[in-house]
Amino acid sequence: RLRVVVLISGRGSNLQSLLDAAAGGGLPVDIRAVISNRPGVQGLERARAAGVEAVTLDHRAYAGREDFDAALIAAIDRHEPGLVVLAGFMRILTPAFCAHYAGRLLNIHPSLLPKFRGVHTHERALAEGETEHGASIHFVTAELDGGPVFLQARVPVLPGDDAGTLAARVLEQEHRLYPLAIRWFAEGRVRQDGDRVRFDGALLDAPLPL
Ligand code: GAR
Repeated sequence: RLRVVVLISGRGSNLQSLLDAAAGGGLPVDIRAVISNRPGVQGLERARAAGVEAVTLDHRAYAGREDFDAALIAAIDRHEPGLVVLAGFMRILTPAFCAHYAGRLLNIHPSLLPKFRGVHTHERALAEGETEHGASIHFVTAELDGGPVFLQARVPVLPGDDAGTLAARVLEQEHRLYPLAIRWFAEGRVRQDGDRVRFDGALLDAPLPL
């Protein structure tokens, strides 16, 4: 089975969707460890409750990004993962880190990339008057939220939405997206090919819809 390490920074609801899918037999992976850069977050409790090793690596204890990422690599590689999953991990990663895990590093981002890279995506989608919004799964490269996207879910922006209602609508789709994307990766159906993605051997021209 594919060994997976999940990186989080907080609530861990996406992590929970992966733990549930793995426990339910719908996700053929072995989640070996969950690592948080923030101490005391709910996602660590979720990992422990599922019997998964939960590790805190507080970025504030390191002199800089290079030092933190080197410690993070060491903590991850103890588990010899075939895939590293960013699930609400809110730290920018160094190019060295991204290169080390090239082709086996996934992120979920709460927008229809390439729209709204970075933070506050729901607020920005509302401010721009978007009628559609959503979430994306992509391979991670050194470019922030810039790696190749292969799966997206769309939701409508509804009259009266605020950032909270819109985020909740997107999150519900996130919880469907990530288990599917990781199952595809585990089955060898999806792989990074430079700045593109192959699905069942064919280069994708556009992200697949959920
Ligand atoms: C999710 O909406 C995820 O897409 C987003 O943070 C949230 C984490 O929620 N990630 C990013 O913004 C990455 N830049 P969770 O902790 O409940 O999974």
